[in-house]
Amino acid sequence: MSSETVIHAKDLCKYYNVYETPSDRLKQLIFRQRRFFTPVEAVKDVDVEIFRGETFGIVGRNGSGKSTLLQLICGTILPSIGSLDVRGKVSALLELGTGFNPEFTGRDNVYLSGSIMGLTDEQVDSRFQEIADFADIGSFIEQPVKNYSSGMYARLAFAVAINVDADILIVDEVLSVGDEAFQRKCFARIHQLKESGCTILFVSHAAGTILELCDRAMLMDRGECLLVGPPKSIVALYQRMIFAPSEERERIRNEILEIRNGVTQWPDETPASEINGKTQLAIRSTRDDRDRARFDEGLVPQSTTEYVPRGCHIENPNILDLDGSQVNVLLSGQQYAYVYDVRFATAARRVRIGMLVKTISGYEIGGLASHPVGSEIANVNEGRRIRVRFRFRAALNPAVYFMNAGVMGDIAGEEGYLHRILDAVMFRVQFVESNCVTGLVDFSGLPFCVLETTPDGGQTIDE
Ligand SMILES: Nc1ncnc2c1ncn2[C@@H]1O[C@H](COP(=O)(O)OP(=O)(O)OP(=O)(O)O)[C@@H](O)[C@H]1O
Ligand SMILES: [Mg+2]
Repeated sequence: MSSETVIHAKDLCKYYNVYETPSDRLKQLIFRQRRFFTPVEAVKDVDVEIFRGETFGIVGRNGSGKSTLLQLICGTILPSIGSLDVRGKVSALLELGTGFNPEFTGRDNVYLSGSIMGLTDEQVDSRFQEIADFADIGSFIEQPVKNYSSGMYARLAFAVAINVDADILIVDEVLSVGDEAFQRKCFARIHQLKESGCTILFVSHAAGTILELCDRAMLMDRGECLLVGPPKSIVALYQRMIFAPSEERERIRNEILEIRNGVTQWPDETPASEINGKTQLAIRSTRDDRDRARFDEGLVPQSTTEYVPRGCHIENPNILDLDGSQVNVLLSGQQYAYVYDVRFATAARRVRIGMLVKTISGYEIGGLASHPVGSEIANVNEGRRIRVRFRFRAALNPAVYFMNAGVMGDIAGEEGYLHRILDAVMFRVQFVESNCVTGLVDFSGLPFCVLETTPDGGQTIDE
């Protein structure tokens, strides 16, 4: 990465006048003294410098101004106030629905995009096959783009964007609509472009992607650039802000602004070489949070789904640290226990109890069962209460995860769920400075599962 600035935004603002109804727009034209619109500050006073060859990530909540900033940089919209200097040819993969003419075929759009990017028809001819091969949408390339699925659209848009010799590539979240195999192919190509010295601006809600790809990152909120700095610090602060209870968010936002304004000092552990540009930043205020697991009331799953109980009920699912305190913000690599109670209203046979950890997109990362098939708990008597404790190591990348809880048993001679809760618990893995986890899960080397019974149960479990 060089120190040559290729994008320089200074006091950059983009305002929109939002009218509730079309008639308000008309009224505004007639009654100029009154205001019939709500002004929206989509981008507000953004000051940022991006350097040649760097991969720059932008994170922020929905509506925080990320796409508007990218559109300003691409030149598809003009600033309301402020200046923006962009040096080099920009190729943009903006949100779906922008870029292509829906009435034209994929082939025609490739030529159209090529000419917009300054390529001659002959130059597009020579790379058309490569674009079509990368997009891999078969005969749809000859169909109007309006007939495409969002995945096909993203495939073609990405294939074009990476084949027009751009100096600056802008990718706005859009890759998430492609299937996983295509996403992997795109990320591989982004890595290649990065190595070849292309400047890349990347918007993503996926913390892991920002951490993996970006040299620096920026946190946006309400149109403002709150902070620019090392991706891991920015992602940690972003997650801290979005998963905080709503009444806490303003306080956290102000803390982040204090970092930007230099009120909070630079942390010792962030090398100055990691930070470029004028923005002063630090992560000291979050250091305490990063050193210990804790409980964040804002981390409540909204997707919890219970199966209809068939004789037993799962209760109080929680994650505990080794001291027995309830936690849901975990430190990568540390040990925890996932615990819950199972109350058996009726007797059950061939019982197994399980857990499963999933990503935010539902990908099943790993799970455990208390007993293997064939060695189940033979009988559990009516009225029993079993406390289940799964010890696990949070060998996971910083991100949010969800846990299922499930009890299997004999239902008319077949194994089935006696009760199950999907997304029973939500937790976040916090970044730990010394950790180099890259998404793998390793539950090995720990006791598999410990079952505890309540002392007043009076009856033993036959195993
Ligand atoms: N053309 C427009 N007219 C009016 N308001 C707009 C327009 N474009 C964006 N906005 C508003 O500007 C704000 C920022 O929008 P923007 O699309 O930049 O957010 P974002 O960070 O990209 O969000 P997301 O994560 O959902 O993609 C939002 O409040 C949005 O409603
Ligand atoms: Mg957007």
